[in-house]
Amino acid sequence: MLWLLPAGALAGMDEKVAGNGLYGHLWQPDAVHEYWDPETFQRPEKELVEGRFSAAECLDCHAGVTPGIVKDWQRSRHAAPSQGQTVACDGCHGSDHQALRFPTPADCGACHQRQHGQFLAERRYGFPSHALAMTRAVNSKHFVDKPKAEVTACLQCHSVATKCDSCHTRHRFSAAEARRPEACLTCHSGPPHPDDESYLASAHGRRYLAEGAGWDWSKPLRPGNYPVPTCAYCHLRNGNHQVADKAIWKFGLRQRNPRTAENQVKRKRWIAVCADCHEAAQAAAWLQGLDGERKAAWKLLYRAEDELRSLRSDDLIHPRPGQRPPYPLDWWESFWPRVRIGFYEGQASAFYNVSGIERDYFEMWYFDGLGSYKAAAHGDAEGVREGHRRLRRSLQGITERARELRALGAREEAAGAPFDPGRLWLDGPYSDLNREQN
Ligand code: HEC
Ligand code: HEC
Ligand code: HEC
Ligand code: HEC
Ligand code: HEC
Ligand code: HEC
Ligand code: HEC
Ligand code: HEC
Repeated sequence: MLWLLPAGALAGMDEKVAGNGLYGHLWQPDAVHEYWDPETFQRPEKELVEGRFSAAECLDCHAGVTPGIVKDWQRSRHAAPSQGQTVACDGCHGSDHQALRFPTPADCGACHQRQHGQFLAERRYGFPSHALAMTRAVNSKHFVDKPKAEVTACLQCHSVATKCDSCHTRHRFSAAEARRPEACLTCHSGPPHPDDESYLASAHGRRYLAEGAGWDWSKPLRPGNYPVPTCAYCHLRNGNHQVADKAIWKFGLRQRNPRTAENQVKRKRWIAVCADCHEAAQAAAWLQGLDGERKAAWKLLYRAEDELRSLRSDDLIHPRPGQRPPYPLDWWESFWPRVRIGFYEGQASAFYNVSGIERDYFEMWYFDGLGSYKAAAHGDAEGVREGHRRLRRSLQGITERARELRALGAREEAAGAPFDPGRLWLDGPYSDLNREQN
């Protein structure tokens, strides 16, 4: 069962190139991809104004064509640097109007080595990380298995890896903007990562909401400059352009042991952040509270997993692994179907074509579990209580549903008519349709 296109299938469609990543041969980029991943997809636009222009000419003409961009640029440090030379339109896009470039992180890095170097160095911590975010998204199994309209938007957030205007947006490129929580919230929101809700409900966030409008955001994120921390204050400590050097629990998808030597080092880094304003011992105790919350959450999650495993071993979950369409490139699943319970290569995608009870578990794990994790990480006590209420309710629902499946199985057996779906799920139109449209 392969959906690989023959090598020549794309040839002849001149404008159409293949996508990138593990499944690149199975999807084609839309026009927006040239913005989100310019290094891979941007090609000079030949239909544009012709000529080579000086900085003054760019500004002159663009003051009429794109006045907002010119105004933003005029208010930026690139227009009036305290040191170094003015960086005008041609400094980032080039001067040949038919060979314009959209700057990549490396282009910015030509002048901002420190930030670019820190950004790349983040890779050593593995996933999740900003530097690897694009790779992670395009390599997700569901990236080519879901309707294109649903997955194209992934890259708007995951482009944090492939351009530098995520936190300080073009064309202001303002450090002050990036220091505010709003700079992160465009991406760090929604049920699997409710960083917005959890932060804004914390003591820090409430104080930011009450007073932040009056703070002087031109000050760097250093001890003494801000009364309470914002996202970047904590995660990009001292303006360090990476977010992964302190993360123990990371995205929150797996049980972790906070006591390994490596994690103890990370924890010390966190305590040092809190110690800008709190007693170190108090901070250590708060962070232990996070570990305690995680332990309690995993206890509930493991109980749900046990329930699923036991149903699986009694053959009461349908579709069985071999009865659902394998993901592209997972052809071996046709011969060696694998059970998907619990952490599965970090891939939410593993839970789109599963039975109802497995989906219930997924929601418990991905939404209830991660919501309560972020509440604990960010000091939103009510969020933790609510998260655990939901975890317990979901576990109860799973237990009840398991009981029903057992009763159903017993009735089928008594009737001598075990349920056989045949190829019902394998030949469903959903997967094939999506794959054709990608
Ligand atoms: C040709 C060199 C050059 C390039 C290319 C360049 N910059 Fe700059 N950048 C500067 C200079 C010079 C300053 C002003 C430094 C100063 O005032 O001390 C600056 C300042 C900044 C600031 C600080 C603004 C503030 O509010 O303090 C940010 C953020 C920034 N650049 C981001 C970027 C990004 C993102 C890119 C790529 C899209 C980029 N720069 C490309 C030279 C460059
Ligand atoms: C510091 C680097 C830098 C400078 C200076 C700069 N740009 Fe940009 N520009 C960018 C980046 C980054 C993007 C976004 C590209 C992407 O999305 O991949 C962009 C995108 C654009 C776009 C297309 C997308 C949009 O925003 O709608 C236009 C048009 C543009 N720039 C014009 C200009 C003009 C005109 C000037 C001079 C006033 C200028 N740029 C100066 C970095 C710069
Ligand atoms: C004579 C007018 C004129 C001059 C001079 C000019 N541009 Fe443009 N530029 C345009 C027009 C018109 C567009 C198309 C805008 C649109 O589609 O909305 C454009 C588009 C762009 C884009 C967006 C390209 C894209 O693919 O989206 C960038 C970036 C850009 N110009 C940068 C520059 C730079 C840098 C200079 C100076 C080297 C410059 N322009 C000089 C008129 C001009
Ligand atoms: C354009 C979208 C975008 C913006 C803006 C953004 N992020 Fe992220 N961030 C992501 C994505 C996507 C990931 C997950 C990457 C992956 O798949 O590995 C991520 C991951 C992270 C992580 C997880 C690192 C780890 O090791 O677990 C932290 C922490 C983080 N971001 C903090 C921030 C902060 C703080 C800001 C604002 C200053 C911010 N982000 C702004 C998209 C964004
Ligand atoms: C609203 C912005 C946003 C959108 C849209 C988005 N993501 Fe993410 N994604 C994030 C953030 C933020 C994180 C990291 C959260 C954290 O560490 O707490 C993340 C994490 C991930 C991770 C986990 C990284 C790891 O290694 O643990 C994967 C995989 C992922 N996203 C894939 C996708 C795919 C595929 C899509 C489209 C279906 C998508 N994302 C859509 C923001 C987004
Ligand atoms: C996750 C959000 C985020 C991303 C992505 C990001 N920055 Fe920044 N950037 C910030 C924050 C926050 C500050 C302010 C730091 C401080 O106050 O010390 C900043 C400040 C800067 C400054 C000004 C530093 C100074 O000391 O004045 C430069 C230059 C800069 N960034 C360049 C870049 C470049 C180049 C990239 C891409 C490799 C990039 N940034 C990507 C958040 C980000
Ligand atoms: C007081 C410091 C602080 C502030 C402010 C803060 N966080 Fe966190 N954040 C943490 C801690 C502590 C963790 C859990 C770290 C661990 O052990 O993995 C965490 C976890 C995360 C994670 C999961 C990856 C990781 O590093 O573990 C993301 C993503 C994240 N925060 C984003 C944000 C965003 C976005 C904001 C602003 C809306 C924010 N944080 C505000 C301290 C902070
Ligand atoms: C820049 C200073 C600053 C940093 C850094 C900081 N905090 Fe705070 N924190 C405060 C202030 C100020 C308050 C009190 C807010 C209020 O109620 O007005 C507070 C309140 C709290 C509270 C609520 C306490 C209570 O008694 O209700 C917790 C929990 C907390 N912080 C945890 C942390 C942790 C954990 C870290 C590090 C990951 C951290 N803080 C980093 C300034 C900071």
